[in-house]
Amino acid sequence: MSLLSDARAIAAKDPAAHSTAVVILAYPGFHALVAHRLAHFLHRHGRVTLARVVSNIGRRVSGVDIHPAAVIGQRVFIDHATGVVIGETCTVGNDVTIYQGVTLGGTSIERGVKRHPDIEDGVVIGAGAKVLGPITVHEGARIGANSVVIADVPAGAVVVGVPGRAVREGAHRHDAAELREDSPDLVAAALSDVFHRLQHLESVTGIPRHSIDHRPEEQWVDDTDFSI
Ligand SMILES: CC(C)(COP(=O)(O)OP(=O)(O)OC[C@H]1O[C@@H](n2cnc3c(N)ncnc32)[C@H](O)[C@@H]1OP(=O)(O)O)[C@@H](O)C(=O)NCCC(=O)NCCS
Repeated sequence: MSLLSDARAIAAKDPAAHSTAVVILAYPGFHALVAHRLAHFLHRHGRVTLARVVSNIGRRVSGVDIHPAAVIGQRVFIDHATGVVIGETCTVGNDVTIYQGVTLGGTSIERGVKRHPDIEDGVVIGAGAKVLGPITVHEGARIGANSVVIADVPAGAVVVGVPGRAVREGAHRHDAAELREDSPDLVAAALSDVFHRLQHLESVTGIPRHSIDHRPEEQWVDDTDFSI
């Protein structure tokens, strides 16, 4: 069950949490998630006013204001909870940590457009940080406390300050296929070079190939792909 895994994840992440039970009973960040799951369900089923009522009850209980339309992933940890605001068109991925006073807000009041940020999996957003506009904070990035972030943040980067600047670049993650594509095949290149030099020598010296290569013709290697 998703709420139970949320509570377990909070208990695992917070060194101050003594058990999953204490998270369920006494963690406002968890209560905010419970209220949001219900509000979001109602919102998706067209009960928008009721969704806002539930969301407002959640805000009063937890101090976290999440618009019912916002999409919140699994195992999100809203630590201390107070003063967190998550806007209507925001998406928050899995395993994200959000500290108190964070705003995931919009910079325009235009209706029906994307106005709020996308926060990808594993991002950590420090206390008091503001992440503003339809930008993306990519996977695993960390935002410093009290930063104001108004531009995309690369995966794994650390961004601090006002406006937010990267103090550490993210490590770009290559998958295996990408690595194969990007890396030159040095052995194939060397063999191919030797082969073409031989062909050139043959043509310059005029020595016919069959006089030096006694294998049957079908075993000669022309235009061979040496890549491994
Ligand atoms: C941004 C953060 C994740 C970086 O942590 P880190 O990877 O250990 O990086 P460092 O502490 O080595 O800091 C790297 C640089 O950024 C600066 N820096 C770190 N946090 C900063 C912040 N919030 N604002 C401005 N500068 C900051 C450091 O001074 C350092 O600068 P330098 O390289 O010129 O010395 C961390 O500082 C942070 O703010 N975490 C949020 C924690 C939080 O909100 N906790 C609330 C608990 S209730």
